[in-house]
Amino acid sequence: MKSYPPEPFRIKTVETIRRISRKERETALAAAGFNIFGLRSDDIFIDFLTDSGTGALSDRQWGAMMQGDESYAGARSFFRLKEAMSQIFGFKHFVPTHQGRAAEHILSTLLIKPDLYIPSNTHFDTTEANIRARGGRPVNLVIEEAADPAAFHPFKGNMDIEKLEAFIKETGAENIPLGMTTITNNATGGQPVSLENIRQTSEIYRKYNIPFFIDACRYAENAFFIKTRETGYTEKSTLEIAQEIFSLADGATMSAKKDALVNIGGFLAMNDDDLFQRAQNELILREGFPTYGGLAGRDLDAIAVGLWEGLDEQYLEYRLGQTAYLVEGLHDAGIPVVLPPGGHAVYVDAGSLLPHIPRDEFPGQALSIELYLEGGIRGVELGSVAFAYTDPETGEKHYPLMELLRMAIPRRMYTQAHMDFVIETFKQIAERKDSIKGYRITYAPKLLRHFTAKFEPID
Ligand code: F0G
Repeated sequence: MKSYPPEPFRIKTVETIRRISRKERETALAAAGFNIFGLRSDDIFIDFLTDSGTGALSDRQWGAMMQGDESYAGARSFFRLKEAMSQIFGFKHFVPTHQGRAAEHILSTLLIKPDLYIPSNTHFDTTEANIRARGGRPVNLVIEEAADPAAFHPFKGNMDIEKLEAFIKETGAENIPLGMTTITNNATGGQPVSLENIRQTSEIYRKYNIPFFIDACRYAENAFFIKTRETGYTEKSTLEIAQEIFSLADGATMSAKKDALVNIGGFLAMNDDDLFQRAQNELILREGFPTYGGLAGRDLDAIAVGLWEGLDEQYLEYRLGQTAYLVEGLHDAGIPVVLPPGGHAVYVDAGSLLPHIPRDEFPGQALSIELYLEGGIRGVELGSVAFAYTDPETGEKHYPLMELLRMAIPRRMYTQAHMDFVIETFKQIAERKDSIKGYRITYAPKLLRHFTAKFEPID
């Protein structure tokens, strides 16, 4: 029998969850326009929609929140966060934001002009959308192995360094106001990026004088992968690894809702004094005064504690062990999953599970619907619904690398019995997979369509 390291915590508060009947699930789904984002959480049994802001706080975080200082300016909470920030990330400046995309928004507003290019290993959807919203062009240069769900590569989130340099030469550094890398690489399976790769990426950006920003949402999980998978890092602590990672960059955007183990928050960090000045002005316009940035003082305290808890190695061993347990259980049951296991989520290769459904009929969407109908489980499509787009100039349609269904695992929330239930549910779905049909879109907004699009089944 497989298992994973036991939870390095015990449960102090519980929240009841219920599984409504299949008939009730059918009704709920139709009312939601066959989009799992439209469901009420009460109608969901196990919620793997996202690991963002959905985790459990610790007693230490709750305790720290009671000490939140709600002063408008210069609050103690801000300085406690600043201390944690400077020890872990080491950037000269930062501004708190209410979540990750607010940091992306500010950064994009300050640096991006129409028709400029922003390379990354793979941008997350909100980053892409923020770049496009300024008229910029996001470019994804992840290594080729990332496109093959079954290809084993310990750092499948890596940037393709040769492609990056070729891209910069071809595009001209003057047309690239910043370069990024996302750790872990969410859009291609929560796969980690090696320190060697981050270093090479940094060298290339520095060679061409391009400011380098890290999308740091899941930096602690990435640091633990480096510790366990990369030669030369076994003896280093995750803190030391994180410090080394950020010493290679000029700044970072972060959604604290991931590896800082909080329900809300984020930040934009940087070394450049002038950029910091401009970021503060932008922050005041959009988020709030620079010592709270759209958050309550207690939120800043929860982040300050959560940043340390997120780096704890016993926690990370359990956390990544849980993800690996689910991946292995599904793999053993014959469900095609992205291998090796990534950090925060399990990615089912819906394209190969449902090969009879064409990409334009959204196999990942169809699978998300079946998962809900069968088990009351909510996972999200990360395939052509989320990422396919038509180039405005050429009219050419671009598809993402894979048609995935993501099950993101909230931090410190679900147990091994929940994971076993998910595996059993997939076995049921696999038995009748040939009868599963595709979907067509009946409504979609221009940007980030997967959140609010509506669908109907194709007969
Ligand atoms: N960057 C990455 C890599 C992310 O995964 C996310 C959010 C963001 C930026 C934006 O942060 O939500 O705080 O504004 N990802 C969530 C997810 C939503 O489900 O993967 P945010």
